[in-house]
Amino acid sequence: MTAHALDRAALVGVIGAGTMGGGIAQVAAQAGHGVLLYDAVDGAAARARARIDSDLRRLVEKGKLTPDARDAIVSRIRPCARLAELAPARLVIEAIVEDLDAKAALLREVEALTGDPRIFATNTSSISITALAGRARRPEQVVGMHFFNPAPTMALVEVISGLATSPDVAASVFATAAAWGKTPVHARSTPGFIVNRVARPFYGEALRLLDEGAADAATLDALMREAGGFRMGPFELMDLIGHDVNYAVTSSVFEAFNGDPRYRPSIVQRELVLAGRLGRKSGRGFYPYGDGAKGPDPATAPPSPRPARLVIEGDLGPAAALEALALEAGIEVQRAPGEGRIRVGAGVLALTDGRLATERGGTRRDLVVFDLALDYRAALRIAIAPGDRTSPEAAGAACGFFQALGKKVSVLSDVPGLAVMRTVAMLVNEGADAVHHRICDAAAVDRAMTKGVNYPLGPLAWGDLVGPRTILSVLDGLARAYGDARYRASVLLRRIAAADGRFFADGGSLRP
Ligand code: NAI
Repeated sequence: MTAHALDRAALVGVIGAGTMGGGIAQVAAQAGHGVLLYDAVDGAAARARARIDSDLRRLVEKGKLTPDARDAIVSRIRPCARLAELAPARLVIEAIVEDLDAKAALLREVEALTGDPRIFATNTSSISITALAGRARRPEQVVGMHFFNPAPTMALVEVISGLATSPDVAASVFATAAAWGKTPVHARSTPGFIVNRVARPFYGEALRLLDEGAADAATLDALMREAGGFRMGPFELMDLIGHDVNYAVTSSVFEAFNGDPRYRPSIVQRELVLAGRLGRKSGRGFYPYGDGAKGPDPATAPPSPRPARLVIEGDLGPAAALEALALEAGIEVQRAPGEGRIRVGAGVLALTDGRLATERGGTRRDLVVFDLALDYRAALRIAIAPGDRTSPEAAGAACGFFQALGKKVSVLSDVPGLAVMRTVAMLVNEGADAVHHRICDAAAVDRAMTKGVNYPLGPLAWGDLVGPRTILSVLDGLARAYGDARYRASVLLRRIAAADGRFFADGGSLRP
């Protein structure tokens, strides 16, 4: 099968000139295509072109685009008053309202246009490509081409095949997206495709941690940014997306998966929607916005005395970097055999393995568990959790240790898996399960999450970094703690962990 990108001379039709349609028209025009832009609302296509013109003017002012290039791009976009004017387009991309009946009706109208069969691509985020194609006369020509907002700057395009989509059509749309400078990934049509499915735990685990009183939203957000390396914390991101939108996506994925508990929507979030606290757009979500609103104030432990020495017992696994950091901080480090713990003052520190600190510590009074960091050197903050029997001296020693390394410390209540590790383990699991169910390959999972939602590392590369065995033990710990099928490990993860393998066998060249 040879996949050809759409010829530059071919016309592209874009239907729906809103946020996404305008962005997609700009992308196609920047790639050199003539674009026929149509919207059901009179004048909307012309207004979209004017918006593109003014956006490009800003790029000219910044010296990123020549005035001639701007003129050429804008002149390639032709607003159309009637759908029939799109007849010469070889590829039609729709970005109208998110409604199956509306999209199916439009599809039939596009199919009725004169001329050769053309590819009908939909920018839907949540409608099944199979269901839409099921209403088509030529379902093999129907494909998902899912851009991310804002389309001109976000690199990812999910190319989604329904049951009937011709492989040639999917390959041609993939090649076209690549020729347009995007990073395309192939996926089978399933609820949420790749990004909106794999990302669910980023929100879901945060909401559960909040609901269980692990910490407040500001502290959990700070941990995900400052230890997890994410650009935004889950609560500030949900406030930005809007709780109505975020809750609707989770609910639609949950329903489409027949009530799988992995995608169960949050009651905490539903309450916000019911209260009209939709986030930034309504002036209040988890945080207040507007004039005089106080910024988030994460809980940070007060200073504790710095330790002069410590003992590292055994292999710290994903936290191995702590040894070098301790030495650099001028702490005397001794080595001893053991199970991967740090003995410091009155405390014994262990990386969370998914169990409660109280359970893991048994009758001892010295155990404090700590959380994962994407990179312990770069991390600005670390979460710890003492067990119910842990002495205040042991908790203080743990704080003093991380503070001596220059980190802020947030003390969480004793929740299984803490915050970053628990979220990462669930993201790895979700990515693994998408691969297991042949939705896409491992490289596509990681490309999708780094290019579509800016994760600092693809979930599966992250799983390799932490170690599939560690991830599996965290999930098994969570599954035991909650007795909830939400935390069941993907069979693929279990297989890879059992073989002590990796998602990327070559150790990283497949990383995005
Ligand atoms: P929007 O509301 O900004 O724009 C939709 C446009 O379609 C409007 O201008 C409307 O007049 C027009 N329209 C509605 N029905 C039409 C019809 N039958 N024929 C022609 N034009 C029609 O919506 P937005 O945000 O651009 O979303 C469009 C699609 O893209 C939806 O399917 C949405 O799920 C999807 N999407 C949205 C993303 C986002 O972040 N906004 C991201 C990725 C996908």
